[in-house]
Amino acid sequence: MSESITSMLQENRIFEPSEHFQSHIGPIYVPDLKTYHDMYRRSIDDPAGFWGDIAKDFHWYRPWKRVVDWNVPDAKWFVDGTTNVCANCVDRQVKNGHGDELAILWEGEPCSPDPEVRRLTYRDLLREVSQTANALKSMGVQRGDVVTIYMGMVPELAIAMLACARIGAPHSVIFGGFASPAIVDRVQDAKSKIIITCDGAWRRGQIVSLKKNVDDACEKLPDVQNVLVVRRTNSPVTMHTGRDQWWHELVSNQSSECPCEEMDSEDLLFLLYTSGSTGKPKGICHTTGGYMIYTAHTARMTFNLVPQRNQVFFCTADIGWITGHSYIVYGMLPNRVPTVMYEGAPNFPAEDRFWSMVARHKVTHFYTAPTAIRAFMKWGDEQPRKHDLSSLLLLGTVGEPINPEAWIWYHQNIGQSRCPIVDTMWQTETGGHIITPLPGCTPTVPGSCTLPAFGIDAAIVNENGEELPANQGGLLVIRRPWPGMLRGIHGDRARFIETYWTKVPGMYIAGDGARRDERGYFWIMGRIDDVINVSGHRLGTMEVESALVSHPAIVEAAVVGIPHEIKGTGIAAFVTLAPQFKGPADDSLRKQLMEHVTKEIGAIARPDMIRFTTLLPKTRSGKIMRRLLRDIAAGKESTQDTTTLEDFNALAKLRENEE
Ligand code: WTA
Repeated sequence: MSESITSMLQENRIFEPSEHFQSHIGPIYVPDLKTYHDMYRRSIDDPAGFWGDIAKDFHWYRPWKRVVDWNVPDAKWFVDGTTNVCANCVDRQVKNGHGDELAILWEGEPCSPDPEVRRLTYRDLLREVSQTANALKSMGVQRGDVVTIYMGMVPELAIAMLACARIGAPHSVIFGGFASPAIVDRVQDAKSKIIITCDGAWRRGQIVSLKKNVDDACEKLPDVQNVLVVRRTNSPVTMHTGRDQWWHELVSNQSSECPCEEMDSEDLLFLLYTSGSTGKPKGICHTTGGYMIYTAHTARMTFNLVPQRNQVFFCTADIGWITGHSYIVYGMLPNRVPTVMYEGAPNFPAEDRFWSMVARHKVTHFYTAPTAIRAFMKWGDEQPRKHDLSSLLLLGTVGEPINPEAWIWYHQNIGQSRCPIVDTMWQTETGGHIITPLPGCTPTVPGSCTLPAFGIDAAIVNENGEELPANQGGLLVIRRPWPGMLRGIHGDRARFIETYWTKVPGMYIAGDGARRDERGYFWIMGRIDDVINVSGHRLGTMEVESALVSHPAIVEAAVVGIPHEIKGTGIAAFVTLAPQFKGPADDSLRKQLMEHVTKEIGAIARPDMIRFTTLLPKTRSGKIMRRLLRDIAAGKESTQDTTTLEDFNALAKLRENEE
């Protein structure tokens, strides 16, 4: 198990849905647990009936022949049906008379006392998306071509994604915090010939040089033919003639008419790269019909979205991660509740940025990660107290297990003890929530993500697939297909089968350890593979190790997670020096290595601690003894700063049998 923050607080209180929530949210879709259980039963026993009824409310060009075909591990949803995700997010709202309603509310990083705000209605979105789609076509993008998007959090990011969906070109969004080698890997793997980027992005008053990173990456990407650049920071950039074009020059000249492509339900909607335990990040494939229905439905249920009730939904994630894909863009727009996008950082210009946004935009739903909540706690109770948070009705968390202290603080200080908290467990691979409370009916217990979402046959099993009794820790699996499930890893069928379907044959394995209590509630215990969850972001320890050994001073590296007050899990690296390296193993080298990892992957992968060692402890079969390293890194073993071979030998002998 990887280490998440161990809680000092024992919290066994049960929090029932508050009366305030129940009387202010509007109609409650699932008002009591009996209704939940009945609906859940139907979703498992009759998935065709359950999902067919939901999908009927969407626009399809051609209806599906069957709701689901399942041949482990391959699922097809809404078989032979044709639709378009952009049409369902945008055109449908305009056609139904809602064109003037607010779709996206964007707030830029405040550079002056009055932050820049853009409000896009569905009609605005339709125009801008259509023009962008035509611009992509003018650059030769065709149905099926993968478009890489590496941008900051500006409205054009969502517009670009929807434009891709409109013309049937799958997108691959790369988080703007990644460095250029990460762009190279992803563009090569996706065989993408076009990149959409920005000149730069604002973050804490500084400019992140996105275009420069793309230029550096393109030196290794001879197949990239077009780079479309949004002007955001006005920073100087080099435009390469014949390859680079400005968004504002190309897009605004396009026609605002662009028909939606009629897509097969199983056509690829997007790739999103995520870390695994081995190798390079894998391109998770999500397809059109199933992902569309699943994200929209989970958003509606988990957040009880009601379009007529002046709700405003604010998810603080970056769109570069799945949370932003599903719960800023694709799950939100079909539900016709305005979605907030923000640029910048939660503590700039001040540590009350989010609370000021909640008050100014009358946010009703606020969705963030435990790591952010722990930072809010550190910044002090007075930050939220400066603002009127009375618009809030519902809070959510995602990304890692939440420690009860953070849960209680969130509940009291942000939710003012009246907002339910939905602790939503899910993954890039699952497309949408898989285990979550429903705010109108599920009593919550801090630290538990509670009950499975509709259609999710989640269980805790041993390696033979046998379900374990209550409170016994085991593997979290899903035993039946669901519409939002990944359809594969791009270009790597063997890895798809090996990663998700082999350990417990016939079942999807999430890669998390978990238990279920006597009430049937799930408690996630952490990753069981070499993936660590740093500030709610997934990182493979091997990716960080490869970055370290690419530095000339290092021959071997082992990376493990360590408990970290804010990040949940921090990164500890043990490295052995190359014989030809003559300099001292000191803080200056440590700093150099940390910078090196930042340059290779991005700041999120920067180690918190680096230890030099003469040898890494290994079992006789040559496996690095990670548990031993974890204990040492967490300070459970007292060793000198420079751990010697002898120390390791002694410890390793003691521990060898445990691994
Ligand atoms: C972890 C993020 C406990 C888990 C949406 C999972 C959680 C990984 C929770 C997926 C939660 C996410 N409680 N753990 N509520 N939500 N996780 O793909 O380990 O970036 O496997 O998707 O985050 O991370 P990913």
